[in-house]
Amino acid sequence: MAATSYYFLLLILTFVTATLDQANSQLSTNYYKSTCPKALSIVRAGIIAAIKNETRVGASLLRLHFHDCFVNGCDGSVLLDDTANFIGEKTAVPNNNSARGFNVVDQIKANLEKACPRVVSCADILAIAARDSVVVFGGPSWKVRLGRRDSTTASRAAANTSIPPPTSNLSALISSFSAQGLSLKNMVALAGGHTVGKARCTSFRGHIYNDSNIDTSFARSLQQRCPRRGNDNVLANLDRQTPTCFDNLYYKNLLNKKGLLHSDQELFNGNSADFLVKRYAASISVFFKDFARGMIKMGNIKPLTGSAGQIRINCRKIN
Ligand code: HEM
Ligand SMILES: *[C@@H]1O[C@H](CO)[C@@H](O)[C@H](O)[C@H]1NC(C)=O
Ligand SMILES: *[C@@H]1O[C@H](CO)[C@@H](O)[C@H](O)[C@H]1NC(C)=O
Ligand SMILES: *[C@@H]1O[C@H](CO)[C@@H](O)[C@H](O)[C@H]1NC(C)=O
Ligand SMILES: *[C@@H]1O[C@H](CO)[C@@H](O)[C@H](O)[C@H]1NC(C)=O
Ligand SMILES: *[C@@H]1O[C@H](CO)[C@@H](O)[C@H](O)[C@H]1NC(C)=O
Repeated sequence: MAATSYYFLLLILTFVTATLDQANSQLSTNYYKSTCPKALSIVRAGIIAAIKNETRVGASLLRLHFHDCFVNGCDGSVLLDDTANFIGEKTAVPNNNSARGFNVVDQIKANLEKACPRVVSCADILAIAARDSVVVFGGPSWKVRLGRRDSTTASRAAANTSIPPPTSNLSALISSFSAQGLSLKNMVALAGGHTVGKARCTSFRGHIYNDSNIDTSFARSLQQRCPRRGNDNVLANLDRQTPTCFDNLYYKNLLNKKGLLHSDQELFNGNSADFLVKRYAASISVFFKDFARGMIKMGNIKPLTGSAGQIRINCRKIN
């Protein structure tokens, strides 16, 4: 290729990349600097108090941000309650009897409303809460981009279909994340969120009874607590050793066929994700870097900005 057309191509590429970035540059790390300077410290204090009261809730809040962003963007839709004439996402399959941490969001929102009424969105609270929880558990930190507004709608149908179930195989996981603009690498890094928190028997029953890519004694010990029928809500740690510490044991467990969910073990099952699991098991710093990048990218999914949506006063209902 002639040098001039090469540089011309480069110019176009630079322009396209800059334009794509602008789609998310509506969000900024200092968004509340003048309108609510205490926003970040109020959320952090709420998270520290909530985790002191119940450690697991930090994991639950990290998951809430994921479940918010995957359903029509990070717009706080997951927080809306069902009412007689409104169907929210809390009763969608991935959330029903499973999503938690809502009271913590309410408490933080109440404190924010006292300090700066109608300024900080519920969607942003979830993004900050996810980061702060990871930090309390000893994981990486990152600058949270802010300025998301809250939806006035929710979609149970989209929640049913956009959040991948634990029965997913690798190709289903890849397409689910790819539909949100997230790469294989983003997916494997973000799945490392399973280094904290718990899952119900109903989520891992298939894996411990039906799958062969699971360590036999690990499966047997889980079968003692999670029977073939009943006890659907019995819990097990997603990371068997350190469920309240944000480390890379999740990946080390996958190398030993000790993933709890079918979908977890799919990431290390002789396919295209194996090299990433090995990489993150070998280096916690590479995992931390890629996890933080993945969280920022996930947090950028289709935010409502400008005059779209609203700043909810109560995260559970539209104004
Ligand atoms: C890769 C696809 C994913 C699948 C199939 C998946 C599936 C699940 C399932 C089935 C549970 C247990 C729910 C229950 O039994 O009540 C769970 C829990 C959890 N997930 Fe995921 N997840 C995925 C990705 C993620 C991502 C990207 C994050 C965050 C970055 C995340 C964070 C969590 C956390 C922290 C918990 C524990 C929550 C708690 O203890 O309350 N997951 N996930
Ligand atoms: C503390 O955690 C328990 C669950 O372990 C929860 O029921 C309760 O509402 C929490 N209290 C506060 C003040 O957050
Ligand atoms: C959610 O779970 C409750 C309690 O198990 C159940 O009664 C209800 O039917 C479930 N809702 C949906 C929409 O599946
Ligand atoms: C989501 O799944 C639940 C449980 O299968 C079902 O009751 C509900 O009708 C579904 N909702 C929508 C809107 O697809
Ligand atoms: C993975 O799961 C999808 C959806 O359930 C299914 O259509 C597909 O055949 C599965 N792929 C493989 C390789 O098993
Ligand atoms: C396990 O496999 C059996 C036989 O194929 C099937 O009937 C059952 O639904 C599976 N169980 C789960 C929890 O996936």
